[in-house]
Amino acid sequence: MEKVKILGIVGSPRKRGNTAKMMDKAFEAIGDYPWVETDRFEVAGKKIGHCISCYKCMEKLQCVIKDGLYEFHEKFVAADALLWSVPVYHMSVPSQVKALLDRFGNMMIMHHLAQGMDVPRFSKVCGVLTNGASRYGGQDLTLSFLVNSSLVTKGVVVAGDTLVDSYIGAAAWAGQMPNPLAEDNVLQDEHGIACAQNVAKRVAEMARIVKAGKAALGDELPSEYSYTWEAKE
Ligand SMILES: Cc1cc2nc3c(=O)[nH]c(=O)nc-3n(C[C@H](O)[C@H](O)[C@H](O)COP(=O)(O)O)c2cc1C
Repeated sequence: MEKVKILGIVGSPRKRGNTAKMMDKAFEAIGDYPWVETDRFEVAGKKIGHCISCYKCMEKLQCVIKDGLYEFHEKFVAADALLWSVPVYHMSVPSQVKALLDRFGNMMIMHHLAQGMDVPRFSKVCGVLTNGASRYGGQDLTLSFLVNSSLVTKGVVVAGDTLVDSYIGAAAWAGQMPNPLAEDNVLQDEHGIACAQNVAKRVAEMARIVKAGKAALGDELPSEYSYTWEAKE
C-alpha cells in the first residue's frame, strides 16, 4: 500500500513559535513509522483573505481571491489525514485560520450544492492540537471549533487516549514564567506534549485503517468517496 500522507496544518501567524513546536513534537512521535509520509501547511507568512460573500464559487470550484487557500486546497486533497496545531486567540482560532476555513468550507459546500451534489465524502482523518498562554484560556473551545470544522468538511475525527487526558484532542499551556509569551514555552508542558504525540499516533493509525479500507472496498464504495481537483487559473 502507498504511504499514509499526513498533513500538519500549523495555524499560528508566528513562525517557529509554540504552535509549530507542538507540531514538531507530534510528528516526532510518528517519525519512525515507515508507512507514514508527512507534509506541512503553515499559515505564517501567507496571505489569506476573508470571504467576501460573492458566491462565485458556486459556478466554479475556485475562489475569486487568489492566495494561500489554493496551496491549502491542493495539500488537503493530497492528504489522507490532517493534524491541526493552532494557538488560542481570543478564546478561539486565529482569524487567519477562520478565514481559511470560511472560504474553504463555503467553497466546498456551496459549489457542490449548486451543482446538485453533496460535499464529497473526503473522509480525511483529523486530529486537533492547541496551546494558549493561559492555563484555562479557551483551549477546549478552540479544540471544539476545529473538531466541528473537521465534521463539516466530512472528516473522520479522532482524539488520543483518555488516559493521557485527550478527550477531544491535545491542549497545552504555553504561558510559563518568566516570559509567558516566549516561543518555546510549550515544550515545558510535558503532559500537553505527550497528549499531542498520542493524538498524532491515533491519527496515523486510523488514517492507515481508512486508507486500507478504501483500497480493499474499491468500486464497492459510492462515488462520493472519490474526489479529484486540479488547480486552474
Ligand atoms: C491576538 C492574541 C490573542 C490571544 N488570545 C489568547 C486567549 O484567548 N487565550 C490564551 O490562553 N492565550 C491567548 N493568546 C496567547 C497565545 O495563544 C499563546 O501565546 C500561544 O503560545 C501563541 O502561539 P505561538 O507561539 O505559535 O504564536 C493570544 C495571543 C494573541 C497574539
